[in-house]
Amino acid sequence: MSQSPQPWSQRFETALHPAIAQFNASIGFDINLIEYDITGSQAHAQMLAKVGIISAEEGDALVKGLEQIRQEYRQGQFNPGLDDEDVHFAVERRLTESIGDIGKKLHTARSRNDQVATDVRLYLRDRIRQIQVDLKAWQAALIAQAERHIDTLIPGYTHLQRAQPLSLAHHLLAYFEMAQRDWQRLDEIYHRVNICPLGSGALAGTPFPIDRHFTAELLQFEAVGKNSLDGVSDRDFAVEFLCAASLIVMHLSRFSEEVILWSSQEFSFVTLSDRISTGSSIMPQKKNPDVPELVRGKTGRVFGHLQAMLTLLKGLPLAYNKDMQEDKECLFDAVITVRACLEAMTILLAEGIEFQPQRLSAAVAEDFSNATDVADYLASKGVPFREAYNLVGKLVKTCVSEGILLKDLSLERWRSFHPLFEMDIFEAIAPAQVVAVRNSYGGTGFEQVRQQVIAAKNLLV
Ligand code: ARG
Repeated sequence: MSQSPQPWSQRFETALHPAIAQFNASIGFDINLIEYDITGSQAHAQMLAKVGIISAEEGDALVKGLEQIRQEYRQGQFNPGLDDEDVHFAVERRLTESIGDIGKKLHTARSRNDQVATDVRLYLRDRIRQIQVDLKAWQAALIAQAERHIDTLIPGYTHLQRAQPLSLAHHLLAYFEMAQRDWQRLDEIYHRVNICPLGSGALAGTPFPIDRHFTAELLQFEAVGKNSLDGVSDRDFAVEFLCAASLIVMHLSRFSEEVILWSSQEFSFVTLSDRISTGSSIMPQKKNPDVPELVRGKTGRVFGHLQAMLTLLKGLPLAYNKDMQEDKECLFDAVITVRACLEAMTILLAEGIEFQPQRLSAAVAEDFSNATDVADYLASKGVPFREAYNLVGKLVKTCVSEGILLKDLSLERWRSFHPLFEMDIFEAIAPAQVVAVRNSYGGTGFEQVRQQVIAAKNLLV
């Protein structure tokens, strides 16, 4: 321990008020960064030795001492508490305790400001790659279900009103596309995260002859930040990540909402397995869709972190301000939440949900979602579409008032509406046919969907 009552300098005479020490400390959460802090420090020490700011032996001792702290931490033997303001001080303190005065050389030509910016980038870089893997697992689950349900029909909705029937696979593959964009977004952000701020110093650089490119290379950064002020002040990479994270959970939340609706008695399109549902403490008949409900709920949390990070940054003058210590919990919680949601929804889709094809095909046969096809039928025989559309409107109105469906009309009645109707109208309005004919590129026609499944599978390998 230093002789000062504080880790930072002899300028201070009295110790911090205990409540203020607690208020000020980030060790409770930035301990999450410890391995990145150690790795960053090892690279810094190697660089110091390479350019001759410290000797090769000193560099070696620092690297080894840091490695030992990593092992101690992994084995539960190093548990910094409130005595250490943050993880950076904790590691430096332990290093000096364990290897002696050489440890005090580690912080040459460095500040906690460029150090913490480096740690956060190293942390996020790894987490982005992990979330990309999670997204692929989610996509694989979507494809597996889609493959099973190319020929299963499901009502398609707009305004939550029956619109046109769909191949269930087509519906699921819509989520595949969203996940694909989520994956790409992370991939793009990755390259802006992967830039090295180390060597920016407190804000202005350093008079020591450091080699920032060497450090960056050791840490496998793609580039070195060009402006030291920006290097310690920039958190827009974190905002971008939180935005990407928000979009991921927003997509999961929409799917969750559908699963919740589908599992209701009113829809009964799916059943959820006992392994992923829970009961009520009072109503014995209940089986609740907790997983999608929680995903929908946790989505709000991630959105909140994005808002918090933006608000945190908006009024900050350059360069580092202590406000920025608040960036970490947002990030950590967003990462944990997104990963947990992806995992839970992947399990739900892979092994916790059963679509009910019979109920689904009954559903698509009991509505007017084939009305567009009647208009298309006449339009393909030369009737102007708008005229056909108006006529079908009348037809639907008649059916509704009689409590019947289009398929219940006799050919005679069809003809009384328009002489161009022939026997093949019955086939044209059958739900499977309604789906099959929508073979335009990207449409729900079975042939299209078969190709979409193949294309999606190819993207995953
Ligand atoms: N614990 C601080 C944080 O997370 C580290 C940087 C402190 N820098 C400073 N100048 N006080 O932001």
